Amino acid sequence: MMNIPIAQPAAGDEEIAAVERVLRSGMFASGPEVAKFEKEFAAYCGVNHAVAVSNGTTALHAALASAGIGPGDEVIVPSFSFIATATCVSMCGARPVFADVDPRYFTIDPDSVNNLIQKTTKAVIGVHLFGQPFDVDPISELCTDHNLALIEDAAQSHGAKYKGKMTGGFGKGGCFSFYPTKNMTTGEGGMITTDDPGYAAALRRFINHGQSEKYLHTSLGYNYRMTDIGAAIGSVQLKKLDGFNARRNRNATFFDSHILNPGLELPERRQASTHVFHQYVVKVTGDFSLSREQLMERLKEKGIGTAVHYPIPIHRQPVYSSIAKGITCPVSDELSKQVMSLPVHPLVTNDQLEYICSAINEVT
Ligand SMILES: Cc1ncc(COP(=O)(O)O)c(C=O)c1O
Repeated sequence: MMNIPIAQPAAGDEEIAAVERVLRSGMFASGPEVAKFEKEFAAYCGVNHAVAVSNGTTALHAALASAGIGPGDEVIVPSFSFIATATCVSMCGARPVFADVDPRYFTIDPDSVNNLIQKTTKAVIGVHLFGQPFDVDPISELCTDHNLALIEDAAQSHGAKYKGKMTGGFGKGGCFSFYPTKNMTTGEGGMITTDDPGYAAALRRFINHGQSEKYLHTSLGYNYRMTDIGAAIGSVQLKKLDGFNARRNRNATFFDSHILNPGLELPERRQASTHVFHQYVVKVTGDFSLSREQLMERLKEKGIGTAVHYPIPIHRQPVYSSIAKGITCPVSDELSKQVMSLPVHPLVTNDQLEYICSAINEVT
């Protein structure tokens, strides 16, 4: 029987050599490797600055706090995302306000955002979910019109473009995650991209104890730094990223043309953007002969890993029960009941793709 995990980091001899080089150098913490990786990542994204951090959640926290978000402020976030898209707002003492998403592309719905803007709104976080950019233009316009900071949650979109431009280059700050399941990894890690030099300086202080010069602390800060060990892995992975994304796209295209069961709705691609298929997410509709959970169980019996991203929309998470009363995000609710992710990562082989598709098509 095959064993196909839903996600698997693709690292080999070059990453091992990079880690060994850093360990032998004696410099483990944030140093020259971090500085080098930041420059490379900024160039890749087409921005002037990139600030490396310890993970995607700390990237989001730093991005919001350094944009001046604090108590009394509201930040609009999509309810259909990973929890960190909202908890970063709470970490600032501000309040997340939950917008619904588009039923075709699963990304933040501009009309929903528009309806939620009020005097206390200070920022919007758009998520480039599953590797597909959100519709940046209408969200950017709303932010400009209402003087809101746009923060991109690009944790799942390394290398994805909207209208020809890399994600991470649209907002005040773009926040990436390098968790091992992501399109590229540093172990744990994150990055904030920006074109604004003053904001980049504020971010650097925030992630380094609020330090403006050695042992002078001018604002509240944290230790959110990346290690040189992680950065060395990141430099190698960045060189491989386009190849990884091409392989993810090939796998996705294979699923598009080989999954034949009409009870499954396959992911739609937005015309204006490229997709890097962090996840290949199908909707198991009422027309399918099995429930989503039965299908997942059936595939598990055949050694095929699947997952639900995400089973509970954020406005229904217990942590937000006190602030989310009466909130309705019907599309997020519906999606959380229907979605199922298939293994699309670069290590899935052609044989495995065929095996997955026939296991699905077998269900009548
Ligand atoms: C959309 C989204 N935002 C934020 C994060 C947080 O990143 P990290 O796990 O590196 O803290 C993740 C990843 O887990 C994510 O998928």
